[in-house]
Amino acid sequence: MMPDGLFGSDWDPQTVLNTTNAVYIVASILFILGLKRLAHPSTARTGNRMAAIAMLMAVVITLIDRQIVQVPWIITGIIIGAAIGTVLARQVQMTAMPQLVAVFNGFGGAASALVASAELVREQDAVDDVAAVTIMASTIIGAVTLTGSFIAFGKLQGFVASQPVLLPGRNYLNAVLLAVAIGLAIFLVFEPNTFAAFAVMGVIALALGILLVIPIGGADMPVVVALLNSYSGIAAAATGFVLENNMLIIAGSLVGASGLILTRIMTKAMNRSLANVMLGGFGAADGAAAGGAAGAVEQRPVRSVSAEDVALVLSYARSVIVVPGYGLAVAQAQHAVRELADELKSRNVSVKYAIHPVAGRMPGHMNVLLAEANVPYDELKDLDEINSEFDRTDVAIVIGANDVTNPAARTDPASPIFGMPILNVDNANAVVVLKRSMASGFAGVENELFFLEKTMMFFGDARGSVEDLVREVKAL
Ligand code: TAP
Repeated sequence: MMPDGLFGSDWDPQTVLNTTNAVYIVASILFILGLKRLAHPSTARTGNRMAAIAMLMAVVITLIDRQIVQVPWIITGIIIGAAIGTVLARQVQMTAMPQLVAVFNGFGGAASALVASAELVREQDAVDDVAAVTIMASTIIGAVTLTGSFIAFGKLQGFVASQPVLLPGRNYLNAVLLAVAIGLAIFLVFEPNTFAAFAVMGVIALALGILLVIPIGGADMPVVVALLNSYSGIAAAATGFVLENNMLIIAGSLVGASGLILTRIMTKAMNRSLANVMLGGFGAADGAAAGGAAGAVEQRPVRSVSAEDVALVLSYARSVIVVPGYGLAVAQAQHAVRELADELKSRNVSVKYAIHPVAGRMPGHMNVLLAEANVPYDELKDLDEINSEFDRTDVAIVIGANDVTNPAARTDPASPIFGMPILNVDNANAVVVLKRSMASGFAGVENELFFLEKTMMFFGDARGSVEDLVREVKAL
């Protein structure tokens, strides 16, 4: 028996519709304002909360409006979902955030494909052309997102080889499979009751998700995750058209557009085209690996220094720029870095942080880490803002960053990262690099910065090294 839902059976259907739409409008506004606030570290937390509240409002009003479940079930669902979300948010390391997002995208794609498929089964021959087109779009895009996201998750987590898997003729194979899936989709718009064709189309889309992502190296997975995020939004928007649900159309479009913008920002910061990323193979020749530690070991001599040596150099400095990278996140050195900066500032040294748009493994990675250690936002400088300042800076301290400081990106047309905008760390008077070894970074390429005369290599885990530095600076 259908439950009456919160509106009860006495409610005028028009009032129910108006109330639902009013809540949808408020939720949509909150989504847009939340997205806007996510663009800056100082407002990101409230932006996230606004979007979470909007999602809760949208889900609850939809369940009530459609009388899908009774209120106790809605509350039970909220409690279970909130418990899973809380555990994940507390347990998952910041460095594992891209994989978590990949899983979310995969489930989002699967949900859209399943809801759209259910609608086809429910409506059968009664499905109209517009609904049929959107059902097929949602199923194909959702299925590609599901398997593609889980391969991305596997590559990032390390249980699927992160190296590109380059099957011969893969681009032709993918083009043929896509053409067959689209052909079946067109056929199904006219013959929606042909379930065997629908199943074949779904299986081809699932296979396409795998085939499209396996040729892409682990290094490019965060870009793939952002693109799949966009796909999951497009699939959700298509499902919104199937269900004639405005909220799903708006939320899906916002996810689709923002995922695409994020993908564009990332590829631009890496000086790569989207096609170059998606066709795969980047880093296959030099064995670039997700962790970077597997990179080549350099035999040329470098100037290796101790904490005491670095402290001495800092004692003469009036201006310092800290350049954080992925290693800072791995070592969880953000609190120690803040302590070092405080110590230097107490000695009238100007301290700024140079943030490269793709430092770390996800957009905003460094901002989030440094915000966690309460580093003032106004000390965080974007690439464009800070690059002209390096030649007026006494010491640049590079902490666990590598590719984003590699001068080869400016000077060596043969380098895989040639053309990628970098932080001009090599223009500073002196450079100190904190890392554990001479291993390469994400792109798997050697960094000329480490061999410059002005560069001092301070080897060790970034957190221990910065803590040693703080001790030495305090002892000066
Ligand atoms: P990377 O070039 O990956 O270099 C990180 C360095 O950190 C490594 O050379 C590693 O050297 C060092 N490291 C690792 N663990 C450490 C620890 N515990 N203590 C000290 N050092 C440690 O990092 P980056 O400069 O931040 O550049 C990011 C790279 O990721 C770029 O190539 C970028 O294109 C790519 N990428 C980023 C994104 C986003 S959105 N951020 C997306 C896709 C790709 P050792 O092993 O010797 O310590």
